[in-house]
Amino acid sequence: MTTTATRHFLKDTDLTGAEQAEVLDLALRMKAAPYSVQPFAAEGAGRKTVAVIFDKTSTRTRVSFATGIADMGGNALIINPGEAQIGHKESVTDTAKVLERMVTSIVWRTGAHAGLVEMAENAAVPVINALCDDYHPCQLLADLLTVREHKGELKGLTMVYLGDAANNMANSYLLAGVTAGMHVRIAGPEGYLPDPAIVAAAEERAAETGGSVLITTDATEALTGADVVATDTWVSMGQEAEKEQRMRLFQEYSVDDSAMAKASQGAVVLHCLPAYRGYEISASVIDGPQSVVWDEAENRLHAQKALMAWLLHQSGLAVVAGLPALGAATEAAQA
Ligand code: CP
Ligand code: NVA
Repeated sequence: MTTTATRHFLKDTDLTGAEQAEVLDLALRMKAAPYSVQPFAAEGAGRKTVAVIFDKTSTRTRVSFATGIADMGGNALIINPGEAQIGHKESVTDTAKVLERMVTSIVWRTGAHAGLVEMAENAAVPVINALCDDYHPCQLLADLLTVREHKGELKGLTMVYLGDAANNMANSYLLAGVTAGMHVRIAGPEGYLPDPAIVAAAEERAAETGGSVLITTDATEALTGADVVATDTWVSMGQEAEKEQRMRLFQEYSVDDSAMAKASQGAVVLHCLPAYRGYEISASVIDGPQSVVWDEAENRLHAQKALMAWLLHQSGLAVVAGLPALGAATEAAQA
């Protein structure tokens, strides 16, 4: 099997701005007609099973992938932490070479991003990052879908993330936001800001899309006039030993009523969940009128269904009606 045509989704910038918009358009279409796209079920479609592997715990990701795959006529093979040989008895490369012979896509929640890259390099089926230490790109597709539903177009909006600005969600807000042409502001304490390489990648993408990047330790500077305010836990999976120190460090970046008073009046609030009320977000905000977190959680389902169908289509492993035929862009450019 050749891997040249296979499309993967390992980080937010793996989709161009136009491709991200196409996936979000498809997600809206599939949300309105949930069983209209059936990449696994069509007669003669072939493989139906998607391997969904978890090295870390999950509620939303597990349920949204399992139900989304079933909605599209497929079968989710959920592999829970510690259940497979991968990582301890068998290399990622060997695992990829086995899985690609049987499944139609690989969804993987893991630690090191390098593992996902190794999986993708050795698998001729799409590999999807279901969260790693550095990125949570599927979450951002759901978040952008939610913002589109509530605010219309994404381009030109100001999206702010407060809190642990060095974690996977901060990186994904930055990269996915600028890919959509948004002005992304990331605020956190010194020592917990995004890696300079990720900031550079975001600036490069922003220059193409008309978006912009602001990295700051000043929460007020970030919040002023924001259209979207987002946060995430201060203690990500694997950081539990640092909990006490982190609870002290991030306090001034809490999304509470006084923070929301600095944002635009019509700002919406995102949180990928699970949320810790009274820490990164107050109960009054997450349970208040500006919060769209339940739409955001539901949109994991619609966004990931669209993503899976789109990747299969782009990889030549399924045909999704309404998407441009493979090679159409090249033919148009040559005409
Ligand atoms: N937001 C999110 O990824 O939730 P889970 O960890 O429950 O999957
Ligand atoms: N930053 C969090 C996101 C959970 C969905 C973590 O990695 O634990």
